[in-house]
Amino acid sequence: MAPLWPWLCALLAALPVALAGHGDPIAQKYIVEFADAETSSTSFLSTLNEHGIHASLNHDLSFALFHGGSFTLLNSDQNEAAIVKQISSWSGVKKVSPVRELHQPKREVSSVAHGAPIRRSVAPHGLRRRSSDHGDNDFPHIMSGVDKLRQEGYLGSGIRVAVVDSGIDYKHPALGGCFGKGCLVEFGFNFLENTTDPWEGHSGHGTHVSGLIAAQPNPYGFTGVAPNVTLGHYKILGTRVVKTGTDLVSASFKKAFEDGADIISASFGTYKGWSDEPWGQLVQKLAESGVPSFIASGNDGTYGLFLASNGIDNSAGIGIGSVNNKYSPLLLNGATYSTANTTGEFGWQLAGTSDFKNGTYALYPSSLNASVVGDFCEPWTGNNANISDKIVLIRYGGCRGSQQQANAVKAGAKNILFYNNEAGTYELPVQDPGLTGLGMVSAQTGAKWVNLVQSGAHVNLHMTSDKFSKTIFINETNAQSGGQLSGFSQWGPSNELLPVTAVSGIGGFMLSTWPVLEGSYAIESGTSMATPYVAGCVALLMEARGKGNVTPAEIKALLSTTAKPNVFHDGVTGSPFLGSVAQQGGGVLDAYKLVHTTTTFNVSTIAFNDTEHIAPAYIRINNTASSPRVYTVGHVGAATVYALSDNSTIPQRNKLGHFVDRIPDSASLRFSTSTISIAAGSSAVIKVTATPPKGLISRRIPVYSGYITFNGTSVDDSFSVPYLGVATAMRNVTILDTTEGNYIVDSSTQERVKANHQFIFPGKNDPIDRANTSYPIFQTKLSMATNLLQIGIKATNNSTIFQAAAPQTGLARTVDGVAGPGTFSFDGQLADGSYLPAGNYSMVVRALKIFGNRTNLWDYDTVRTVNFGFTYAPSTAN
Ligand SMILES: *[C@@H]1O[C@H](CO)[C@@H](O)[C@H](O)[C@H]1NC(C)=O
Ligand SMILES: *[C@@H]1O[C@H](CO)[C@@H](O)[C@H](O)[C@H]1NC(C)=O
Ligand SMILES: *[C@@H]1O[C@H](CO)[C@@H](O)[C@H](O)[C@H]1NC(C)=O
Ligand SMILES: *[C@@H]1O[C@H](CO)[C@@H](O)[C@H](O)[C@H]1NC(C)=O
Ligand SMILES: *[C@@H]1O[C@H](CO)[C@@H](O)[C@H](O)[C@H]1NC(C)=O
Ligand SMILES: *[C@@H]1O[C@H](CO)[C@@H](O)[C@H](O)[C@H]1NC(C)=O
Ligand SMILES: *[C@@H]1O[C@H](CO)[C@@H](O)[C@H](O)[C@H]1NC(C)=O
Ligand SMILES: *[C@@H]1O[C@H](CO)[C@@H](O)[C@H](O)[C@H]1NC(C)=O
Ligand SMILES: *[C@@H]1O[C@H](CO)[C@@H](O)[C@H](O)[C@H]1NC(C)=O
Ligand SMILES: *[C@@H]1O[C@H](CO)[C@@H](O)[C@H](O)[C@H]1NC(C)=O
Repeated sequence: MAPLWPWLCALLAALPVALAGHGDPIAQKYIVEFADAETSSTSFLSTLNEHGIHASLNHDLSFALFHGGSFTLLNSDQNEAAIVKQISSWSGVKKVSPVRELHQPKREVSSVAHGAPIRRSVAPHGLRRRSSDHGDNDFPHIMSGVDKLRQEGYLGSGIRVAVVDSGIDYKHPALGGCFGKGCLVEFGFNFLENTTDPWEGHSGHGTHVSGLIAAQPNPYGFTGVAPNVTLGHYKILGTRVVKTGTDLVSASFKKAFEDGADIISASFGTYKGWSDEPWGQLVQKLAESGVPSFIASGNDGTYGLFLASNGIDNSAGIGIGSVNNKYSPLLLNGATYSTANTTGEFGWQLAGTSDFKNGTYALYPSSLNASVVGDFCEPWTGNNANISDKIVLIRYGGCRGSQQQANAVKAGAKNILFYNNEAGTYELPVQDPGLTGLGMVSAQTGAKWVNLVQSGAHVNLHMTSDKFSKTIFINETNAQSGGQLSGFSQWGPSNELLPVTAVSGIGGFMLSTWPVLEGSYAIESGTSMATPYVAGCVALLMEARGKGNVTPAEIKALLSTTAKPNVFHDGVTGSPFLGSVAQQGGGVLDAYKLVHTTTTFNVSTIAFNDTEHIAPAYIRINNTASSPRVYTVGHVGAATVYALSDNSTIPQRNKLGHFVDRIPDSASLRFSTSTISIAAGSSAVIKVTATPPKGLISRRIPVYSGYITFNGTSVDDSFSVPYLGVATAMRNVTILDTTEGNYIVDSSTQERVKANHQFIFPGKNDPIDRANTSYPIFQTKLSMATNLLQIGIKATNNSTIFQAAAPQTGLARTVDGVAGPGTFSFDGQLADGSYLPAGNYSMVVRALKIFGNRTNLWDYDTVRTVNFGFTYAPSTAN
């Protein structure tokens, strides 16, 4: 290795860096992959002990496809990173990787049957296997074509689907009512409590996703996609006490495989985007053994591009994006409203913490424009109407909900009902202390009332407190975003430019089962919901084709090539051009075509990579039908999106109704042939050469994409292969930028320091916050991801750089206020535990560029801070 950077090879040390956010390593926990099958987790544990390394075994991860285990290093006095380095050098060890913490996707729009829980009134459960009467007219099923598959008799019979999540309320009458042989939920494990029982009493997430796959007929008239599958459930999420790490994921995937699962569905992930992570590698091995893994792409679409989740940042994982149901079902508190000559029912959701009081309130809309943006975002300048005894109706959005509340409270409001600016209703995170009641009604309800008031009517609301109100079911059309890509659907590509989303399932505004103790049914939105939806459709595919007759790689290609590309939609309006492959993958799932197509492709999505690595692609098309096929080859470009805005190095965020800087330009594609004829039972290959769009600002990282179309004789016989590339050299992309971060601040003032600033460090044995002392804090901010971050200290009069922290690998980019490598505080102690003498220094921080060579100094982004001096505070000891 190049000697230029002496501490590249130096001993690793414990991470002193304050880590925050998703996907961070969990201290002391490692997955060790053994080099051979002879080593067992217990024999390895003995070997550790023989070397004086105190450790405990967390999970034995060895099975047919992997040899290894996860261990906790217990030596508190020894240098952890040094131990890791030592273990890594043993011949019996193939790889040591940190265990990373998972994050449960945050809930998007949701409406739970929130009123009085429907207490269990069902008769004592005998074995209630399955129902034989399966409805098929649930709207998501009409959108996906599952209704037609149902009519053909496909129900997922004989397919074993494993769900890894927060548990399942199998006692729910719509989930079979029992657990074990002969039940709908037949197998599983509870990894949180180390029992065989994966029951879920409260949380809800796992019960919801399971119902989307296999819910039985119920009072709301919906069913799961494949109600006759056999379900398994592996409980690994759902408690804040136990941190769920990637080792638990590996343990659950291993058990699902051993229990004979045909399909694995996982609705969680972490920010990652590097293919060398153990979870992704396990997904790859499972796929090679015939078991496909469907993994949610994530719900952080508003944070912009380049946020790929762990598990799908490898070529085998099947990432699932989300499109919205065309209907918005709602389970809300029922109440009535009246005017002089009409009355009606409406539903509302408690949006804050304190309840409305029973009573009749006059409705006071603050604006008579039902599409106003920024209602009550400014202080009230209206008339002096007394609004304290009324319910003030405010349109949500345009600024923070807390700001809208605060302005209304200043104007005298005591009770507020928001009406939403998109489909569904929310629970708001904060309630203004000045309010008594805070709730939300749907956009349609709000607009209806505004119209009534505008026409001169006085509207009265007859409220019953949340505690006593009856739940009502409402099923509205979602005119604004129904059938469109969900704004929350997370954007790739991975840091290595793999397109991560293969297809978008139906995941926005989904009614499904919920723990009986929490209300039995709920509406949730997320890629968490789209993922089991797609997994269920694949169960129908396996049933139709026969298990084992379609490989995971073929399934992935079938999903994206049979999907229907959708237009770009910003949450409010659609655009005339197609949405980016980085967000939607192949487009909207078409389950009917998925199951029935006889034309297959050997690629799911083509990655044209960056401008330094762009190369022609080859697509093999297989005609498995008994008659010949002819296709016209064409190309439809999708919107090109800039990852960065023009004045920042941090990827731009998307807001409802506003995605900055997408441009209609697309790449030019050349094909080796414009028509392709394939005889029955044979295949043909086509070569595709891409030229990225011209005239783009490469500094802003333009991501182009589109669809190669194969048009046959009908829509059913037409397919598209998505492609994606980046019109810049990733090796040129800024990782560390000093305008918005990557400089030092003084710990005592939190202000950015100027050259030659003097610090008085607390002494070795002092508390870090000792009075009248201070130290530098490096504000690390990664504009884009890096697979190696090094922090060093350099004396002003010397070229040696001392390692101040252990190198960090596998980092995702910063998401402001949400995730990133955090700050690094320097108090004089180096990575090896020794202390630097007082003197004048600067910090040198280096990040390896994407696709950079570790041994090439020019492939690092380097920041050298201003010079600063420090002395140690005199000791207070004795
Ligand atoms: C909502 O209404 C549509 C149209 O009638 C129907 O297809 C759909 O199944 C309904 N949704 C629910 C959950 O009842
Ligand atoms: C449901 O699956 C079971 C066993 O997997 C099978 O015996 C039964 O016939 C299936 N039911 C239907 C309606 O296909
Ligand atoms: C789980 O329980 C089994 C016995 O029921 C025990 O052998 C095993 O060590 C336990 N595992 C953990 C991680 O506690
Ligand atoms: C509010 O109304 C409900 C339903 O009519 C009733 O059961 C409840 O007792 C009332 N609460 C109060 C505090 O009056
Ligand atoms: C109710 O009264 C309003 C005027 O206040 C009138 O415009 C409307 O047509 C009336 N509706 C019915 C159903 O009579
Ligand atoms: C892009 O090229 C780099 C450098 O060869 C490679 O490491 C990476 O895997 C490629 N990405 C894809 C998606 O093929
Ligand atoms: C085409 O499909 C047939 C039938 O599924 C299969 O036997 C054959 O191996 C496939 N050929 C190629 C080149 O993929
Ligand atoms: C193929 O079909 C798609 C979708 O209908 C259309 O946009 C495209 O222009 C067609 N391509 C050719 C070459 O006709
Ligand atoms: C960047 O530009 C946008 C509009 O072009 C502006 O709203 C925003 O404040 C600017 N941000 C910075 C950091 O200058
Ligand atoms: C990297 O950026 C520089 C400056 O913008 C440019 O001159 C150079 O061509 C770029 N390199 C590549 C490989 O694109």
